[in-house]
Formats: sequence, structure tokens, C-alpha cells
Amino acid sequence: MNPAFGLVVIGAQWGDEGKGKLVDLFAAEADAVVRYQGGTNAGHTLVVEGRKTVLHLIPSGILHPGKRCVIGSGCVVDPVALAAEMDELAAAGVDVGPDRLLISHAAPAILEVHKRLDRARESSAGDEKIGTTGRGIGPAYEDAVSRAAVRMGDLRDPDRLRARIEALLFEKNVLLRAHGQPEFTTECILEALEPVRARLLPFLGDAGALLTSLNEAGGRILFEGAQGALLDVWHGTYPYVTSSSTVAANAAVGVGVGPQVITDVLGVTKAYATRVGSGPFTTELNDSIGEHLRRVGREFGATTGRPRRCGWLDLPALRYAIRINGITRLAVTKLDVLRGVDPIKICTHYRWRGRTYDVMPTDAASWAELEPVYESLPGFSEELANARTPEDLPPAARRFLSFVEARTGRPIELVSVGPGRNENVLFAPRAGGRDGRGEAP
Ligand code: IMP
Repeated sequence: MNPAFGLVVIGAQWGDEGKGKLVDLFAAEADAVVRYQGGTNAGHTLVVEGRKTVLHLIPSGILHPGKRCVIGSGCVVDPVALAAEMDELAAAGVDVGPDRLLISHAAPAILEVHKRLDRARESSAGDEKIGTTGRGIGPAYEDAVSRAAVRMGDLRDPDRLRARIEALLFEKNVLLRAHGQPEFTTECILEALEPVRARLLPFLGDAGALLTSLNEAGGRILFEGAQGALLDVWHGTYPYVTSSSTVAANAAVGVGVGPQVITDVLGVTKAYATRVGSGPFTTELNDSIGEHLRRVGREFGATTGRPRRCGWLDLPALRYAIRINGITRLAVTKLDVLRGVDPIKICTHYRWRGRTYDVMPTDAASWAELEPVYESLPGFSEELANARTPEDLPPAARRFLSFVEARTGRPIELVSVGPGRNENVLFAPRAGGRDGRGEAP
């Protein structure tokens, strides 16, 4: 990374692209690693020295000794789950003190009531359910924009905390009643917070102030996206989305720095596609190939354990993600999972009502009817786990990658061929990458 670098690592699909691993790699060069949206709905799986760690809210940079980690005000913070995650890391020997982790005091808190409401809505919705993670994300963001949220800074003042919870429950209990769920008392919410409240106070602070001074001093900031571009609340496959803005521009908003702090956007895509929860998925495979991808790719949710829906790589969706995020370069993960799949198909464009679409249309009426058009590429049978340079890859794998580059106009900088920190093929940075902007697809 260059001095004063602000790199956003973004999921270019529906989440679960393997961003955690990429962030972990880039964290070595960063001064601070920050989360700017989402909450414990995320699950970033990292394998370091054979040991698996799943992080839900704490930035992946925490595994790099000495790196500053920040949870911005654009995140929703479950204080109880956060404390449990800190304990888990501490038990694994990872230092998680206030000098390592800063939590924005402006971040809205997720309380038990948000989780109950999230789950109640899902079970009332029947076939219409979103398939949320049940972590209270939607209700917590609703409270943030309706100005009713309990924010992390409220934990400092027990009287204010009590008053905020009381006001919140006045409306939330009406909703719970409507869903046939038990109501909450203020005492009950306070009791759940009490064991962690005092403990979290030393971690609270002004994330924007810290990161702005770091940037002005030439520091390098790594923004860790959670979920994926197509789950963005404004630009994703609404209503089958999460409740935060996942796109790169929101990285600045979500931590409280100016947009010029962002200098580059890396998009992460799997070599195929997956989705958890409901919603449109044009290239979904409900056959033995989909089953193969799920089994070999171990496509089960890191947060909920749910089996992920699997399908072919979808270039119109990827081009859309490139457009809405300003992605300058790509990382392709899980290429090894395609081993033995022959031919490998890639969706190059869609057809809908007699028209051709190279980029996913934003007209929701089209999504269920889009017809994917595929090109078939030869498969490969070689083991990829030991490949470290492009020359180590079999010709068919290289051809697959060149095809993706040519059809998206974005260089691939890294290909992941296994879960381990070092199981990657690195490509030399090229035009349109790190410092270039490339052509819009
Ligand atoms: P929520 O974020 O729990 O409200 O869930 C809304 C949608 O986003 C559901 O389809 C979830 O499966 C999906 N989602 C939320 N977080 C993740 C994630 O980290 N990876 C993949 N999908 C996610």
C-alpha cells in the first residue's frame, strides 16, 4: 500500500466471498482495519496456522498484533455478542485491549428486543421471509434512522440508558404483541447489558477523529466490507437485502471520514456464486453441480450454519457490483472448488423480454424472469493448493481467469486456492489496478 492509503475490500456478490481472508492479508500493510457497516450478521472465517477463527464484528485485523481495529458508527453493535467475541479471542491468546480496538460511541446498539423482533417477523412472514440471520440487524437500523436507537455511548450513563430503553420499548412492545411474542421490560434489557456494560466503556470513542488524524499523518486504512454489494439496502436485490449500505462509498460515511480518504476499491468474488437466504439468483444450480459446489466449497453459513445456494459465476451481477462500488481490481476466491467441474460455465449476459443485458438491471420486475446466457470453458483436474504464481496454474484455470478479466475490464490481482493464509496465487499489479481506474464495464 502507498502512504495514506484507504483501501476498501468489498464483497462483489451476496456476501461470503472470502473477504476475511483478503482483509487479513492486506492488514499486514495497514495501520488500521475498520468495519463500517453491518453487525454480527457477518461471519469472517480465517485460517491462520491451521487454526480456524470466525469473527462476526471485530475487524479481521485483530489477528495482526499491534494493528488498530475500529468499529465505526455505521455498524450496529450487539454489546453482549461483542463481549463474547472478545472473550473468545482472548482465550485464543489474541490481545483485545482498548489500545487495539475502538468502538464508535455513536454506533447503535443491538438489544435482545431487536433480535426477538427480527425472528418474529421472519416467522410471521412465511414464504415471504427474507431469510435474515436473526441477529436483530434490521430492527436496530430502523431505530437508528427513526432516532430511537440506544447508542453505545449511552452505556456510559445509567440514567440516560434506562430512559432510552424505556422510550424504545414503548413502541417495540406494541410490535412484539402484534407478532404474538412476549414483551420486554426495561429491567430485563438492563440486566442483560449489566455484565458487559462497564467492561466495554474503555473501548468507546470517536472513530472518525481517530481515523482522520491517522490519515492526515500518512496512515493506511483498510476498510473491511461485510456482506456483499448485492445485499446493499439501496442498490441490492431489494427487499432481499440486509439493512445497511454495503457499498464502498459508505465506508467513509460509516466511520465518519471524508470520501477522499478512500483511494482504492478491491472487489472480491468467488469463482462461482452463492447466496444465503431468499431472493433472486439467476445462475442458481439446483442440480448435482450445485450440490458439488456446496460440498466441496463447504458452503454453509459461518454465522447460521445454513446451507448456501450455489450457482455459476454471474458476470452481469459482477459488472453491476463493479459499477456501484467503483471496483478497480478483483480478487477471485475458491478457484480450487471448480476442480473437476467440466465444463465450467460463466453467465456472460441476460435476456429479458427480448432485450440483452450485460449488466444486471435494477428493475426488480425483471429479476425473477432474467434468462442467463452462458459460455462454457474447459475444466481442469489438477490440484491447485500448491500454486503460488500464475505459471503454477493449469492452462484451463488461467483461461478462466483471463476470461473474467476480459469480460469485466478489471485485472485480477489475487486468486485464492485454499483456505490458508498463504494459499494464494499473486498476480503482478497491472493497469486499472491499485493506482489506475480502468474502464467502466
Ligand atoms: P440480515 O442482515 O440478518 O438482516 O439478513 C438479510 C439478508 O442478508 C439475508 O438474506 C441474509 O442471509 C443475508 N446476510 C446477512 N449477513 C450476511 C453475510 O455475512 N453473508 C451472507 N449473507 C448475509
